[in-house]
Amino acid sequence: MSDLLWQKPGVKVDARIQRFLAGEDVVLDREFFAFDIQASRAHAQGLQLIGILDGDELAGLERELDALAMDFKAGRFVLDERYEDGHSAIESRLVERLGDAGRKIHTGRSRNDQVLVATRLWLKDRLVQVAALCRESAEVALARAQAEAALPLPGYTHLQRAVVSSAGMWWAAWAEGFIDDAVRARDTLVWVDANPLGSAAGYGVNLPLARDHTTAALGFGRLQVSAAYAQLSRGKFEMAAIEALGSALLDLRRLAWDLSLFTSAEFGFVALPAQYTTGSSIMPNKRNPDVIELMRASYASVAAARTEIEQLLSLPSGYHRDLQFSKGAIFHAFGRGLGALELLPDLLRNLEWKPEPIRAALDPSLYATDLAVDLAREGVPFRDAYRQAADPARWAQGDPEASLAARVSPGAAADLRLQVLRDRLAGLC
Ligand code: ARG
Repeated sequence: MSDLLWQKPGVKVDARIQRFLAGEDVVLDREFFAFDIQASRAHAQGLQLIGILDGDELAGLERELDALAMDFKAGRFVLDERYEDGHSAIESRLVERLGDAGRKIHTGRSRNDQVLVATRLWLKDRLVQVAALCRESAEVALARAQAEAALPLPGYTHLQRAVVSSAGMWWAAWAEGFIDDAVRARDTLVWVDANPLGSAAGYGVNLPLARDHTTAALGFGRLQVSAAYAQLSRGKFEMAAIEALGSALLDLRRLAWDLSLFTSAEFGFVALPAQYTTGSSIMPNKRNPDVIELMRASYASVAAARTEIEQLLSLPSGYHRDLQFSKGAIFHAFGRGLGALELLPDLLRNLEWKPEPIRAALDPSLYATDLAVDLAREGVPFRDAYRQAADPARWAQGDPEASLAARVSPGAAADLRLQVLRDRLAGLC
């Protein structure tokens, strides 16, 4: 372990306590390392702008920070237990390579704003991915809604067959859902897109830090004005990001549930792409939908991470070390969540409907509601029409295509209004 930044002369730090304080933390900091280096570069530029560093010192720091980023990426620099955390590792490397310029980098900053800025940059990157995957999934669903608008499918309520619906309606629902999720990820990104660097330990510093410069250099949309609020917002913005991810994962969970049911022999409506199924170690006959089950389960990790952070936030204002645990929570949530979302577009692209079992499931009862509405259209008060249409003797096996076509604005196979969704998708580009 390199010297601790805060170690007092004559006080030895117990190894077990050190493990407890930093333990897995330094390893988690690998996720943030590239962003921490990027923010360090912007901070150094800011220090030069206010005269704390001269031009040569800045050039050296920029060169060494770039080299460190490359060494880290290439595996030549390993962030491990030799360091207390990623922040100390950066400083210690700069001191080792540059001497005084390295010793100056921490002027006017604290690990508290370092971790905040790295977290925000990391989350921005992940929210872009969430939005892109939701958008791509919506695109696939929308194309299939169009192509399969007239393919009948039972519509269920209470998991009981209810009315004639269509694959188009099923697809359009997921398309609209994932568009909403993409919008939410983007809106959350805008909300998270604020620069905390310069807030130091949570109370600012007695230097005119070039905060506007670091805001622009790091590509933030705005500055977090209040240093105290920058700290206070820790945990809160992570929760918001997890909720945006969770919104997509909630839709994915229900979609996966549909597919679990639809692929069972009892329904038999859907065949999954072969790569999305596995076998059993004992039952040679099995084709199991493990992939969609793990996609479904991923929401649990996201929800748990959100709860963990919410529990951590039971704190007065100011920095508290408790907040460190928010890192593991976001990594877990986005690791699982993005892992699941990544597989979604291809899954949707390659699902196959099985028309025979679907057709067989469209029993005459599914036309009862249409019948009641037809009678009402002819002038029978709906409540009376409803009673008449409740009589199974009046149910004939209807024509599913005609039933779908009747539920329309003139001219469309079903009133899916896909153009509205197409326009929303185009707005997301
Ligand atoms: N690992 C710490 C965290 O995530 C970094 C900040 C440390 N600050 C401190 N005052 N000990 O919160």
